[in-house]
Amino acid sequence: MRLVADEEKGVTSGEVIGPQEEQEEFSLRPKTLAQYLGQEQVKREMAVYIKAAKKRDESLDHVLLYGPPGLGKTTLAFVVANELGVNLKSTSGPAIEKAGDLVALLTDLDPGDVLFIDEIHRLAKPIEEVLYSAMEDYYVDIVIGEGQTTHAVHVPLPPFTLIGATTLAGQLSAPLRDRFGIVEHLQYYSVEELEKIVQRSSNVFNVQIAPEAAHELARRSRGTPRVANRLLRRVRDFAEVKGEQVISLATTAHALTQLQVDDEGLDQTDRKILRTMIQSYGGGPVGVRTLAANVGEDVETLEALYEPYLLQHGFILMTPRGRIATEKAYLQLNIPLPSEE
Ligand SMILES: Nc1ncnc2c1ncn2[C@@H]1O[C@H](COP(=O)(O)OP(=O)(O)OP(=O)(O)O)[C@@H](O)[C@H]1O
Ligand SMILES: [Mg+2]
Repeated sequence: MRLVADEEKGVTSGEVIGPQEEQEEFSLRPKTLAQYLGQEQVKREMAVYIKAAKKRDESLDHVLLYGPPGLGKTTLAFVVANELGVNLKSTSGPAIEKAGDLVALLTDLDPGDVLFIDEIHRLAKPIEEVLYSAMEDYYVDIVIGEGQTTHAVHVPLPPFTLIGATTLAGQLSAPLRDRFGIVEHLQYYSVEELEKIVQRSSNVFNVQIAPEAAHELARRSRGTPRVANRLLRRVRDFAEVKGEQVISLATTAHALTQLQVDDEGLDQTDRKILRTMIQSYGGGPVGVRTLAANVGEDVETLEALYEPYLLQHGFILMTPRGRIATEKAYLQLNIPLPSEE
């Protein structure tokens, strides 16, 4: 068993996955750009940059991937390394405690390799500063020894590609952001794209799902492949217990209702956020910290995971004074609008 902090939909959900699901998770991840569904513009651009770098026999320029959790940033980093035909070494911002840890990773790379740093907005400042010269000119200056024997050592590095991923691009410092030659914003997936992902995943799971059931599941997956795959696993359980050969629309709808995913794809926490805004703060405006404390989520999860979706689908609006709930939010929760009371 393995505890993964970033699995499922939460940034910090810490869900335990069994060996079988872990194996499935691995095979669910597309390996090539062709298998990577959706994100058409990102793919088109990356295909050009990868081809050009290979043609020039140079390392690919550094890439920053940003967007809400579960949209495929980590998956894309592995796909890019695979398409480049190089190795990928993976770490994350909070995992690098000392500058020496980063230097060890960098000096271990072969020319052209990819270093993937997840949650790059959480790198400590002194470590981030080591990255500047590494990214720009492929060297690091490190200080070794103590007291009288202290001296700086200049360490040349092989040309490499840094791929950074973040859910909160706004929290990245300007000097770091400016050192990425390629910046790609991952968007929520369309229902059609998610339908294809659901069909592909059911093949991996060795189950069959009716097209209208795949459509319903896709529609209620918050535009997010990770959510679609998680819901598919649970829907499959319901179908299995019923002894269904092909997962039906009825079973899918029933399972999603049991899982408290509503007809707009909002889950319990989404609804709790909206309900808190409406019932405790008169519909807003309310600040993100206040809201986070009231719903029992951390600010980062609220900003990176919940708000972008609620915003994009018109359930909330951002104003300079805070978030406000829209009419659509009242309707969705079946709460009368203030003027109707
Ligand atoms: N384009 C895609 N096509 C098919 N499946 C995808 C795609 N993108 C993501 N997935 C699936 O969704 C899951 C989540 O993707 P991934 O872990 O790459 O997201 P992430 O953006 O790195 O999330 P986080 O911000 O939480 O780290 C993957 O296991 C993969 O199976
Ligand atoms: Mg990731």
